[in-house]
Amino acid sequence: MKQKDIVKSKILCLRSYALPVALAGLGICAQTAAAQSAPAAGNVPKMEDVYKNIQVLNGMPADQMLTTMRFIRASLGVACTWCHVEPGEGEAKPDATAAKTQAARVHPGWWADEPGREIDTPRKQIARKMMLMTAAMNKENFGGRNVITCFTCHRGNLHPAANYEASLVGGTPMGAVGGGGGDAVSGVSADALLDKFIAAIGGSAAQNVSSRVLKGHVQYNGLIADRGATARTPPPYEVEISEKAPGMRAVVTHEGNGVVRSYSGDQGWQQGRISTDPRHQPRDMRDSELGNTKLEDPYFFAGQLKQLVTGLRVARAEKIGGKETYVIAGRTQALPEVNLYFDRESGMLVRMISFTQGLFGRLPVQLDYSDFRDVDGVKVPFHWVNKDIAEGNSFTYQADSVQQNVPVDEVKFVRPSAYMLLFPSKR
Ligand code: HEC
Ligand code: HEC
Repeated sequence: MKQKDIVKSKILCLRSYALPVALAGLGICAQTAAAQSAPAAGNVPKMEDVYKNIQVLNGMPADQMLTTMRFIRASLGVACTWCHVEPGEGEAKPDATAAKTQAARVHPGWWADEPGREIDTPRKQIARKMMLMTAAMNKENFGGRNVITCFTCHRGNLHPAANYEASLVGGTPMGAVGGGGGDAVSGVSADALLDKFIAAIGGSAAQNVSSRVLKGHVQYNGLIADRGATARTPPPYEVEISEKAPGMRAVVTHEGNGVVRSYSGDQGWQQGRISTDPRHQPRDMRDSELGNTKLEDPYFFAGQLKQLVTGLRVARAEKIGGKETYVIAGRTQALPEVNLYFDRESGMLVRMISFTQGLFGRLPVQLDYSDFRDVDGVKVPFHWVNKDIAEGNSFTYQADSVQQNVPVDEVKFVRPSAYMLLFPSKR
């Protein structure tokens, strides 16, 4: 971040969280678009308005909870339930006022996520102290920026190494995360690489595709890894993706009653697989979710990449599977950093890594594209892998058929008022 930006984000930080706030005092500032574009910040409820037992994260935007928790889990290399009780376990307070307060806290479109997370455990208490320690270190030494994070020390382990350990030295850090890695590049511009990419996928033919319907399968991997003994690999699910220019996309997965992730312009929504589960009801996407969703198909939306990802610069050269790529870096409205990897020879976009900002650090998501096929003179990736690098979950998509310039059903682009029952259960 440039000095000017830091100052700017600090001012906005103060503006957005001017109330007496434990962490603001310590210099934690949510460095998201929500915090940077002041009007949006006002719409996001605070942690303590949505969640039930907040003692440290008071005043922070509630849409940061899951990213923050996932970042902590990945940094320590543990399951959510290392700190939290198993969902459903533990004593929910059987007192009438508790139910009342809870009802008062329900914000439309906000999931309370898994039940029972509010129950305190000794490990949660240690984690709270660690949050305060980390924030204090950043405040005292780094002007409140997230320079030291849980990951800085923990590196995926509960017990950070104190003594010299040869096995931890060197390695190949992910360039984007540490800012290191890769080779410096000169003589190419981000603009030229984007133009080459658009030419490589079909030039004006690609830009003239008005809609695309893709049918295929998705295989989940590594999911529910934190459920210990019950971990299982589910079968591949059928998936149907509808896209329409200039900015509509719906991914429908034939899992349960129908998992949907969709957006139209600046409105994103999603629903889970069980029509009767309150946590799976349709809800608005959080800013960072929408930001990531918008980037998922840079092939169909290639013409908009320059508007979507701003501040683009050539960051470095890097090899992927033996092939040279140029990495260009920028950011979007909601995501603090996006890295695009272009094959040096073919010009194709083969990888994208985007970062979601949590309160303590950034979580990367990686998309790898391959199996490019020609459809009506336009190159379409038939295979792509969407991977939470830090957590090891991945989703592998394989297309069986792609149709273009066909009418698409626009109903799914807009959030419905009730669960959209796409696949009634057989029972
Ligand atoms: C290292 C310990 C630790 C891990 C691992 C962890 N959490 Fe937390 N979690 C906490 C602490 C501490 C709080 C309370 C924060 C506060 O007091 O401000 C919390 C609070 C929460 C809350 C708010 C509960 C409420 O209503 O008050 C949710 C939801 C939550 N965590 C979800 C998760 C999820 C999902 C995961 C796994 C991705 C996870 N947590 C992993 C320590 C942890
Ligand atoms: C400056 C380094 C540093 C930072 C930053 C840091 N930790 Fe720690 N953490 C430690 C050390 C050292 C221990 C003690 C480990 C041991 O007992 O071997 C520890 C222990 C813990 C433990 C207890 C582990 C156990 O086995 O009981 C938890 C939980 C924890 N940290 C969570 C966090 C979280 C969450 C963050 C980020 C908000 C964080 N830590 C940031 C250094 C750090």
